Amino acid sequence: MGIVVDNLQRIREECEVLKMTDKQIKEIMCRLHNDLKKGLSRADHDKATVKCWITYIQDLPNGKERGKFLALDLGGTNFRVLIINLGENHFDMQSKIYAIPKHIMTGTGIALFDHIAECLANFMKEHGVYEERLALGFTFSFPLKQLGLTKGVLQRWTKGFSCSGVVGEDVVQGLKDAIARRGDVFIDVMGILNDATGALMSCAHKNRNCRISVIIGTGSNACYVEKTANCELFDGEPDKEELLINTEWGAFGDDGSLDFVRTEFDREVDVTSINPGKQIQEKMISGMYLGELVRLALVKFTRMGLLFGGQGSDLLFEGGSFYTKYVSEIESDKPGDFTSCMEVLEELGLSHASDADMAAVRYVCECVSRRAAHLVSAGIATLLNKMNEPRVTVGIDGSVYRFHPHFHTLMCEKIAQLVRPGLQFDLMLSEDGSGRGAALVAAVACREAEQGS
Ligand code: BGC
Repeated sequence: MGIVVDNLQRIREECEVLKMTDKQIKEIMCRLHNDLKKGLSRADHDKATVKCWITYIQDLPNGKERGKFLALDLGGTNFRVLIINLGENHFDMQSKIYAIPKHIMTGTGIALFDHIAECLANFMKEHGVYEERLALGFTFSFPLKQLGLTKGVLQRWTKGFSCSGVVGEDVVQGLKDAIARRGDVFIDVMGILNDATGALMSCAHKNRNCRISVIIGTGSNACYVEKTANCELFDGEPDKEELLINTEWGAFGDDGSLDFVRTEFDREVDVTSINPGKQIQEKMISGMYLGELVRLALVKFTRMGLLFGGQGSDLLFEGGSFYTKYVSEIESDKPGDFTSCMEVLEELGLSHASDADMAAVRYVCECVSRRAAHLVSAGIATLLNKMNEPRVTVGIDGSVYRFHPHFHTLMCEKIAQLVRPGLQFDLMLSEDGSGRGAALVAAVACREAEQGS
């Protein structure tokens, strides 16, 4: 018993590096605030890590949009095609998920867009609209420098994608070319947007206080409403006082500014990733990496002889085998109950785990997910303080926030601690922002075009 208690104690000590003190969190907020300002500023934008891209969306839906719209949603583990019917009192939506095979994720841009166009054509056939000419909104959840509502140049791939020939190119053109190569379907691409922007659009549609959106899914990002006067790079007519800014905060830390809280596990996740040195904050927060961070810690403790009697399994030692959904499952067990934990460990070939091992595994999961929740909270509190508005609702989407049993509570507690006294906030689950948002952007653009003609 003594040895077992000692092991757990030693694991707890080893996990101290995963905890961020309040002082460190305040420092992170200060650095992020400076980075946001750099991203917005004309003089510093080029060197800025947090780019704060201007979206060309200034018009929100007014409820008068009508018709049938298509939407594409690319940017997480899945790719979706949607058809949305907007009527007076209904919002009818059907969608289908298509896999993007690994060889396409890492192949050529042409193959990626051909695959997307093929799925789109098949979807249109299945939904009886193959012959119709339809408007489409495209949610493309990667860092995009927008040059207009239907023009966006990819800055870098993230989340495991690395298709050649797309960085530096207009993604809308890539899609249009692929559709033209087929020549069988007739689509008007009306707008391109990011999932964070989509989440803000769809939450703001329901809740007027919603002024920030955050994605904590495969990747991480935030979008917020900024005063046009602060957006030095905005070159349009400043007829509207506010603009939506796509922060691309996942790149926070790419210049080393998070190194003072990064651990050996973070460094390992980074060097073995497809984009080393990039998306440093995202790699500490999002679904693509949390499970792997836990796995690396478990491997270390097993090798130190502190876990599983020093006896791992082939799967435990295999990169990527500990899915982020396991973290949510393990932490869903009631304290002292290890039902889900046991199932996960059995799947990993670790059925020899003792109760003490399971308690330790849970502890590691808690440290990794708590740190992620605190980093996101630091980001949200930075935006709330910057905006300095009395009450702001934050729309949040993404698998980590949605499925982790304690993320929401951890965030509410931490943001409350970090936000300037007197500022109030609410966290609201965003329902399918990337699908709805894309359709709404297409619908609003059609409405505007009709009004203009
Ligand atoms: C991308 C963002 C996206 C976020 C969430 C990041 O990797 O750079 O554009 O919003 O993931 O999907």
